[in-house]
Amino acid sequence: MTVLITGGAGFIGTNFVYYMLEKHSDYRIVCLDSLTYAGNFSSLKTAAENPRFAFYKTDITDKKAVCEVFEREKPEIVINFAAESHVDRSIENPEIFLRTNIIGTQVMMDACLKYGAKRFHQVSTDEVYGDLPLDRPDLLFTETTPIRTSSPYSASKASADLLVGAYVRTFGLPATISRCSNNYGPYQFPEKLIPLMIVNALADKPLPVYGKGLNVRDWLYVEDHCRAIDLIVHNGTVGEIYNIGGHNEMRNIDIVKLICEKLGKPESLITYVTDRKGHDMRYAIDATKIHEELGWLPETRFAEGIEKTISWYLDNNDWLQTIINGDYKDYYDKMYGESLKKAEEKLCT
Ligand code: NAD
Ligand code: TYD
Repeated sequence: MTVLITGGAGFIGTNFVYYMLEKHSDYRIVCLDSLTYAGNFSSLKTAAENPRFAFYKTDITDKKAVCEVFEREKPEIVINFAAESHVDRSIENPEIFLRTNIIGTQVMMDACLKYGAKRFHQVSTDEVYGDLPLDRPDLLFTETTPIRTSSPYSASKASADLLVGAYVRTFGLPATISRCSNNYGPYQFPEKLIPLMIVNALADKPLPVYGKGLNVRDWLYVEDHCRAIDLIVHNGTVGEIYNIGGHNEMRNIDIVKLICEKLGKPESLITYVTDRKGHDMRYAIDATKIHEELGWLPETRFAEGIEKTISWYLDNNDWLQTIINGDYKDYYDKMYGESLKKAEEKLCT
């Protein structure tokens, strides 16, 4: 069996590559990734030593190059992780999100049809459902919750989901979709909340919390997400959407305080900055369907997952340094420079 994984040099893709190499000892795992700022080949260093692994530096919007990979590898299962994935960047520059997340998905599905892949899986997000109010804890996203996107990122992911549905119905593409809540764990790029707070706290830098920090996310340890996708591509029903979530709703401010506590850093590092435009208030997933149909449940409790995540960042300083020495600095200065200047000056005095 050959499994093609797009975006395998990113956060979840890398974890999935390692999960699949370990879980299916007879599978060939092929990774296709264009290595944007978020993709890091060094994350796949150990995988690259495995004869069952192959890597192609290829853009999913490049039809010719994608077809060449299919021609050569003839994958039976194709899983599309590749995406522009950061909401803040989508607010700064929506265009690349539309190209990669929508056109890229179309190119991948056309290749699946042309070369007769047995399964295409689209890795989507709970953000396609918009947000939920803080004062209605009884409300959760189900697979039938209407799409109501807030950011260019979530709109591009929702557009791709609609295209997948159209390819199933019109062309008979054997496809599934999963919509997962916020992931955390090893290899996450430090532009996202948890790794950014770990990295800044370690350097005694201000911890930028948007608005009042009351927004709620449903956090899932990345390995649980990988296990869910593996189950869906093998046992899920074609044409179906599966929600995946951690039953672990937490306010941003509580996560940041917990990271301070775990790293022995003072809460005075916390700095409230201007809120994100269109900031979604709360995400919460009802994952009953995947539990009942495929027997999936999250296995890693947050208390254990956050310990493992922090330890991973402490143990992988080389990885971190390569990441934060690149374009990251420019991004960070552009995003946070002005709003954190005063806080940084205060910390230095
Ligand atoms: P990421 O940004 O860490 O990684 C994305 C990867 O895709 C990178 O390796 C990048 O180089 C690659 N890529 C980007 N554009 C490409 C292109 N045009 N061609 C080929 N490769 C390209 O993202 P992530 O957090 O690992 O998310 C993976 C998927 O999971 C995304 O589709 C995202 O929407 C979805 N998702 C993420 C989360 C989360 O919490 N991170 C939650 C739910 C769903
Ligand atoms: P993020 O990790 O970007 O994921 P998403 O927006 O896709 O849920 O952000 C998680 C939450 O943390 C979100 O409510 C925005 C907030 N946040 C901050 O308060 N400060 C930050 O520096 C970042 C990156 C995020």
